[in-house]
Amino acid sequence: MEVDNNTNEKKSISRRSFVKITTLSLAAATSFILGIPLVESLTSSVKKISNRVFSKLAPVKSIPNSFTPVKKPDKIHFDKIEEDAFLRTEKQEDVWVAKKSDNDLTTFSPICPHLGCRYNWNEEQKLFICPCHNSVFTIDGKVVSGPAPRGLDTLPTKIEDKTLYVLYEKFEVGIPEKIVIGH
Ligand code: FES
Repeated sequence: MEVDNNTNEKKSISRRSFVKITTLSLAAATSFILGIPLVESLTSSVKKISNRVFSKLAPVKSIPNSFTPVKKPDKIHFDKIEEDAFLRTEKQEDVWVAKKSDNDLTTFSPICPHLGCRYNWNEEQKLFICPCHNSVFTIDGKVVSGPAPRGLDTLPTKIEDKTLYVLYEKFEVGIPEKIVIGH
């Protein structure tokens, strides 16, 4: 009688172990299968962030010299390419370019580093002036006067096939440091 009880108990333990092992195996297999696309999607979006997209501005030759015969930077409108893991979109944007020669071009973000207004080129004074709080900058982006805590923010560019490309970035405003906060 006592032997039967022990046998039943052993059978019951063995059944419980079987159910437990099967459940754990299924859970592990499911999370493995679901986990692959999740990991793939995470790594691919990191890859996209690190492979930030340059947008085409203009052929270098077509950009007028900004220092001669007249001191005047070029405002270039372009289609800014935005890419995330799933979508590629284009958005109208503009930048200022100061061109000294075909190999010496400086591209500025159009956003004032004081509090984020868009500044303009003043033809008479030959200076950049922000309409919001009167920050004034030279054509090289240096602060002349006003509350701007730093000069105009330059943007990364590259020249490929004699064409100028820009990597559009957004920066923290109101502080002396130039810190990228977006694209
Ligand atoms: S936002 Fe340009 S001076 Fe204040």
